[in-house]
Amino acid sequence: MNNPVTGFSKLSKEEKINWIAKEYFSTPAEAIILLKNYWNSDEKIQKLHDEFIENTITNFYIPLGVAPNFLINGKYSTIPMAIEESSVVAAASKSAKFWSTRGGFKATVLNTEKIGQVHFIFKGDISKLELFFVQTKAKFFAETESITKNMQKRGGGILDIVLNDKTNLLPNYFQLHATFETKDSMGANFINSCLEQFAKTLKEEALTYTLFSETEKDIQVIMSILSNYVPNCIVRAEVSCPVNELAEKHIENPQDFAERFVQAVQIAEVEPFRAVTHNKGIMNGVDAVVLATGNDFRAVEAGIHAYAAKSGQYSSLSHAKIENGLFTFWLEIPLALGTVGGLTSLHPLVKLSLEMLENPSAKELMQFVAVAGLAQNFAALRSLTTTGIQDGHMKMHLNNILNQFDASDDERILIRKHFKHNAVSHSAVVEMIENLRK
Ligand code: MEV
Repeated sequence: MNNPVTGFSKLSKEEKINWIAKEYFSTPAEAIILLKNYWNSDEKIQKLHDEFIENTITNFYIPLGVAPNFLINGKYSTIPMAIEESSVVAAASKSAKFWSTRGGFKATVLNTEKIGQVHFIFKGDISKLELFFVQTKAKFFAETESITKNMQKRGGGILDIVLNDKTNLLPNYFQLHATFETKDSMGANFINSCLEQFAKTLKEEALTYTLFSETEKDIQVIMSILSNYVPNCIVRAEVSCPVNELAEKHIENPQDFAERFVQAVQIAEVEPFRAVTHNKGIMNGVDAVVLATGNDFRAVEAGIHAYAAKSGQYSSLSHAKIENGLFTFWLEIPLALGTVGGLTSLHPLVKLSLEMLENPSAKELMQFVAVAGLAQNFAALRSLTTTGIQDGHMKMHLNNILNQFDASDDERILIRKHFKHNAVSHSAVVEMIENLRK
């Protein structure tokens, strides 16, 4: 049974670590050493990381890898990916190389609209509320001018505000539904500040609106917050080539491969169990680039999965077809990303990742992320419909097992040689290590 702690956030980092080590570990000294081993030797960098969140005790590493040779809209790029899953970067690189000799990836941003809402309760005559909204609309814009001034200079701002009657869903529930253009920033702070001002204006103006009764004047704002569902902030990524050009190692019959591939995508379009795993493969690429570039992968995940379910049934984010001998594979996903603000200028590795991508605009970053998702999906479906996924996966996993057992160089050489021609399984590798060590 562990003890509760009071005032934990006020303790120094050292004190926090000591408390945790004493409270939870049988060998506190070892826990302290491990936690401190992951501190950065550069005090400035460590302080920066300490201050990203509350109660930091150490850093939690995941690898930053790169996938080179991505030909996107006629230009080569190397894509940074922060991810722990062993086969993801290798798969992205393989797809990039495959498509670089077949016309490359085409990516287009279709639209960039962000959304925020003020959710409120109004008890009274709806037609009076509608009239109030029409008469007050200009005030919502006017009273947010100090917030929107800079964004307007960059070509962004509030696009529109509408009043939505949601009383069919919940008694007396209405919302101000606002749309925004936030240019190169993700825009969360900008949008939330505008919304909180809308809420203030809404309440204040209602109080003095002479047509309202006393009950109607008492608008209750429940909350004001951006939506991470951005179905009008969409990027499309595509690859296509004549079917016969798909031929390669493991693709001896390109027509057969293309047909099986299209069928695999169609299964994900109609079958939610498969769609979730299919889309998870896409998110392997999406999240890795989103994370490496300091964007909010939870927001991206939530928004993309909502989009995948927009028809009422969860479905594939990607699509494929064969038409007149041409194989085409594409996806469309909503992405609210930023290349300025947030972590982008704070985290040294985020800055480095963005520089590697030649300091993209938010729209260009949307394209990189969508392409990484499509590349990942292509690699997964290519393996699944030909050799199966485990062959490649387990070869990568072999490394993890060797590290887990702290294998020596000699052991590694012998084990890798053996598993070149034998199926990798966790137990088979462990058995071989144990035999070598007897
Ligand atoms: C594994 O991380 C991702 C896959 O399961 C995706 C898929 O099945 O399409 C291989």
